[in-house]
Amino acid sequence: MEHATGAGPASRPRRGEQLEVEVESLAQGGRGVARSEGMVVFVSGALPGDRVRAEITKAKKRFAEARTVELLRPGAERVADVCVHEGEPCPGAPWQGLAYERQLEQKSAQVDEALRRIGDLDGFELEEIEPALERWRYRNKLEYSFGERDGEASLGFHARGRWDLVVDVEDCHLASERGNAARNAVREWARRESVPAYDARARRGVLRNLVVREGWRTGQIQTRLVTSAARFPKPPVDLHTAIEGDSGGTDGPTGVLGEERLREELFDLKLEMSHGAFFQTNTEMAERLYSVAAEYAGLSGAERVFDLYCGIGTIGLSMAKRADEVWGLEIVPEAIADAERNAAANRIENAHFMAGSARTGVRPLIERAGKPDVVAIDPPRAGLSQKIVRRVLECEAKRIVYVSCNPTTLAPNAAQMVEAGYTLRRVRPVDMFPQTPHIECVALLERTA
Ligand SMILES: C[S@@+](CC[C@H](N)C(=O)[O-])C[C@H]1O[C@@H](n2cnc3c(N)ncnc32)[C@H](O)[C@@H]1O
Repeated sequence: MEHATGAGPASRPRRGEQLEVEVESLAQGGRGVARSEGMVVFVSGALPGDRVRAEITKAKKRFAEARTVELLRPGAERVADVCVHEGEPCPGAPWQGLAYERQLEQKSAQVDEALRRIGDLDGFELEEIEPALERWRYRNKLEYSFGERDGEASLGFHARGRWDLVVDVEDCHLASERGNAARNAVREWARRESVPAYDARARRGVLRNLVVREGWRTGQIQTRLVTSAARFPKPPVDLHTAIEGDSGGTDGPTGVLGEERLREELFDLKLEMSHGAFFQTNTEMAERLYSVAAEYAGLSGAERVFDLYCGIGTIGLSMAKRADEVWGLEIVPEAIADAERNAAANRIENAHFMAGSARTGVRPLIERAGKPDVVAIDPPRAGLSQKIVRRVLECEAKRIVYVSCNPTTLAPNAAQMVEAGYTLRRVRPVDMFPQTPHIECVALLERTA
């Protein structure tokens, strides 16, 4: 039986209260589902079968949210954690206790459930999920926090539920050895030069966050240091650090030390990206994802393709050889400059790019390029607004290839497209993020009315 410490049996849990619960299943987004006093509790940091002590972080009328404070009894199916930092399970790998086959099953089931339950869609073929090529050490980008312990800088992740404690990461199994070495070099520099972490409460100190990014195929490392406005010694130039001091009155160093852009290779493309541009965090699986997108696009060489939310142009550029022309639209101007540079560097002459929002940019794009045969869409997690879906529908493309990192926003978007005369044909999940609940999938919609 579940019980709340410090609360009567019939009372609803309150924020800050702790409960002992048993996790039954996993919800969309990856949290554990438990029940207490007939109420559903979504518990982060817990897997099916686990009995945990959890602290309520949000209490609503019908459900509550909680975070695991202590694992009291691990579920029978749990596998041993691989990525652990000073005894803390890696926050970047919340599903590492779930066997990989179970992770894949869960992800497929969540895509199916979102499309059917949220989108009220059926009749589509849910294809087998593509497993990841590497289950560990696949991330080309990781973000760390600075903290301070015993008077020196620590650099790693926040301990579970502790905003004030950062555990040092020596070897994160999501990062490559090169990426780990770069992070450790920054920590050594901070200690050697006595550069203090930023203390948000006291509004004192310097170092806030570090992002380490890596060209998977080129071996190039790039780091981004987020700091306060204070002065501090420069980090080693071989880390190609972009320093982002607090805006306004910064008197510390800002700008880039070393090379400005990160080089990466994808298929036979040589790519460059600016610090602020998006790039998939799993290079090997990005190739798989874009291969599925190209397969669904069904190109014969005669098509005009729109690549909406194109970033540095990856999807469009990888399709350009098989299309008549591609047109990319993206909101970040630096990414568009990268996309144009990438097209030129790879001698791709039939790819064109426009900076602008999907909300206001699709109509001007149609005016400039004409209506497309195929639209590829790859939005952030929030998906498309209803208005943007309407703009996409105005393209009257034969096929829409929707690359989604969130099936719960793909579902209503696809439903709106189906309502307007498209048929959802095929959906294939691609596992880009092993050990995490993040799900990527590609959906093919065809115009049938
Ligand atoms: C998931 S990323 C995909 C990027 C690219 N297709 C790739 O695979 O590398 C989403 C992209 O959408 C861009 N974006 C976000 N909101 C946008 C908007 N309203 N209009 C156009 N692009 C937007 C982001 O800057 C980001 O580059």
